[in-house]
Amino acid sequence: MAFRTSLRLVVAARPAAARFYSQATTVPTSSASSVTAAQIKRDAALSHPDPAEDSASAALVREHAPYMVATYARPPPVFVKGEGSYLWDIENKKYLDFTAGIAVNSLGHCDPEIATLIAQQAKTLMHASNLYYNPWTGTLSKLLIQKTLASGGMHDATAAFICNSGSEANEAAIKFARKAAKATDGSTTNPKHEIVSFLNAFHGRTMGSLSATPNPKYQAPFAPLIPGCRVGTLNDTASLPTLVTPHTCAVLVEPIQGEGGVQVASDAFLTALARRCREVGAVLIYDEIQCGLSRTGRLWAHAHLPKEAHPDVVTTAKALGNGFPIGATLVNG
Ligand SMILES: Cc1ncc(COP(=O)(O)O)c(C=O)c1O
Repeated sequence: MAFRTSLRLVVAARPAAARFYSQATTVPTSSASSVTAAQIKRDAALSHPDPAEDSASAALVREHAPYMVATYARPPPVFVKGEGSYLWDIENKKYLDFTAGIAVNSLGHCDPEIATLIAQQAKTLMHASNLYYNPWTGTLSKLLIQKTLASGGMHDATAAFICNSGSEANEAAIKFARKAAKATDGSTTNPKHEIVSFLNAFHGRTMGSLSATPNPKYQAPFAPLIPGCRVGTLNDTASLPTLVTPHTCAVLVEPIQGEGGVQVASDAFLTALARRCREVGAVLIYDEIQCGLSRTGRLWAHAHLPKEAHPDVVTTAKALGNGFPIGATLVNG
């Protein structure tokens, strides 16, 4: 039953106003007139029905909601603790977390080693700005490059840019590609600036990464987005000559689409895409924010592909920090 409740963590489709707390177990039936009989029956069958309206969870949500920008609807449980694959809510109910923080908590919640390291570092040095060197940004960059090369990823990985999230990692990749195109393209009338992404992709919520996330649900409220974004269909190899042109500066693609429903880009498609990128001088960016970091059995999903399909840039985040907010953009030399 926790399974069904946990699934609702990811779905969260009902708008906030329509969402109600279960009254099946704790509220007298006389006050349950707005709840349908079917709903009561369903909730009574669950080991973890949504917290009741008079619960501590509901009280906390009611107290905080007026102060929080209502970005999207959330299910009612309030989580206070995590350990391994489990979460506990404020009512001390235990849930099996099938979402793993949407592919973030790959080592489980509150991995003891990571928790100790974060606590030690918090007592040593938290922040000194990007204006100065610190021992760890460089250590992580070096490790990412060495591990990428050792695992057979990319073709000439040389350097990493470290940031705070997947959206920022993609934002950086887009900016690198735009800058590289400016350096090589002499045209002032129609500069090389287009960014190609694919239907059902998810690349993030900042303006650049959102512009490459062709989903009306996410994009429409914020239009107009950045200019020059074009959308293709994953695995449609025949469309590549017209989709990726000399005006394309970057192609952003998830080798396995995550939010798009675990859609795998075929080896043949990615090989043809990489070839086309090289023909027109476009930067090929693989977004491995969800599918990377050993989720396919190798460090990067693209390491399973023939070398000629390997990218110029790889973006990563999520499991990189196991919950600590961090992202990285890896580039070829
Ligand atoms: C493939 C992919 N790219 C980018 C992002 C955005 O990452 P973040 O939420 O860390 O900004 C996500 C997040 O779900 C993702 O799945």
